[in-house]
Amino acid sequence: MEIFQRLYKSGAGAIVSKSLSTKPWDGYHNPTFVGLDNGGWINAVGLSNPGAREFANIIKGNKDVPMIVSLVGSEPSDFAEMISRFDTENITAYELNLSCPHVAKVGLEVGDDLELVSNIISVAKSASNVPIIVKVGLGSTDYLSTVETAIKAGADAITAINTLRAMAIDVETQNPVLSNVIGGMSGSPIKPVAIRCVYEITDKFDIPVIGCGGISSWTDATEFILAGASAVQVGSAIGDDGMDIFKEINDGLLRYMDRKGFDSIMDMVGSVRKS
Ligand SMILES: Cc1cc2nc3c(=O)[nH]c(=O)nc-3n(C[C@H](O)[C@H](O)[C@H](O)COP(=O)(O)O)c2cc1C
Repeated sequence: MEIFQRLYKSGAGAIVSKSLSTKPWDGYHNPTFVGLDNGGWINAVGLSNPGAREFANIIKGNKDVPMIVSLVGSEPSDFAEMISRFDTENITAYELNLSCPHVAKVGLEVGDDLELVSNIISVAKSASNVPIIVKVGLGSTDYLSTVETAIKAGADAITAINTLRAMAIDVETQNPVLSNVIGGMSGSPIKPVAIRCVYEITDKFDIPVIGCGGISSWTDATEFILAGASAVQVGSAIGDDGMDIFKEINDGLLRYMDRKGFDSIMDMVGSVRKS
C-alpha cells in the first residue's frame, strides 16, 4: 500500500493496479521487460499478480488513495468473483483488461470476442457499485466494434490503449529478446497510435475515454486531452523518469490552461481543431 500512497502524494490522481486474476499468477520467466532502440519498451510479463483476494487484503483499510482495480479473466464469472472480493467503498472503479496482447485465453483473445465482451461487462456491471471502465487495445477485431459493444453492455468509460503486439530479436544470439517471444510495445513510439484511437472513439461515441500510451510529459498529456481524453494514464514513463512525472504533467497542464484560457480540463477535452 505504501507505494500507492507515494504515487498519490507525488501527484497521480488515482492508481490503477496491475491486472488481477482469480488466482495468483507467476507470469513468464525473464527476460520479460526490455528497452528498445526506438525509445520504447517491449514486455511480456505474463500478467504476474498476487490474485484478487490477496490484493484486496493489501489495500484493505485504504481510505485516502483513489484506487482503480484492474481485472483480467476468461469468463464472466471470473469478474463477478473478483469484484466480490473487494470492499467497494475503497474502490474508485474497476478497469476490465480486455486487451493484454501476450497471454492466451485472456486479454485480446477476450476483447476480440464481442459476445464474451458483452457478457463480461454485463456481469461486472451487476456485481459492482462503482463505475466499470473497459480497457481496449488493437487486436484482430476492429477496436471500435469492441467499444460499441462495451457501451451497449453498460461500460461507464473506456481506457485506450494497451500495448501493441510486438517482437524484438538479439542479432548476436539470434534469440528473441523476450522469453515469451512476442510481447507488447509501450512508451513514446505508440503515442501517435493511442492518440488516433482516443480521437476516433470520442469522435464516434459519447463516452469518457482515458488516454494511455507513451505519455511522458505535459505536452503528451495535453495532446491526449485535446484529442478527446477526459483523463490520462502513465505507465512506462514512471520507469524512465520516476514519480516526478506527475508533478511535471500537472504543473505543465495548469500553465497551458492559464496561457490558453481554459477554465477546466473538461473545457479542453476534445478541443483539437478540425479544419
Ligand atoms: C511492464 C508492464 C506491465 C503491464 N501490465 C499491465 C497490466 O497488468 N494490465 C494492463 O491493463 N496493462 C498493463 N500494461 C499496459 C499499460 O497499462 C499501458 O496500457 C501501456 O504500457 C501503454 O502505456 P505506456 O506507454 O504509458 O506504458 C503493462 C505495461 C508494462 C510496460
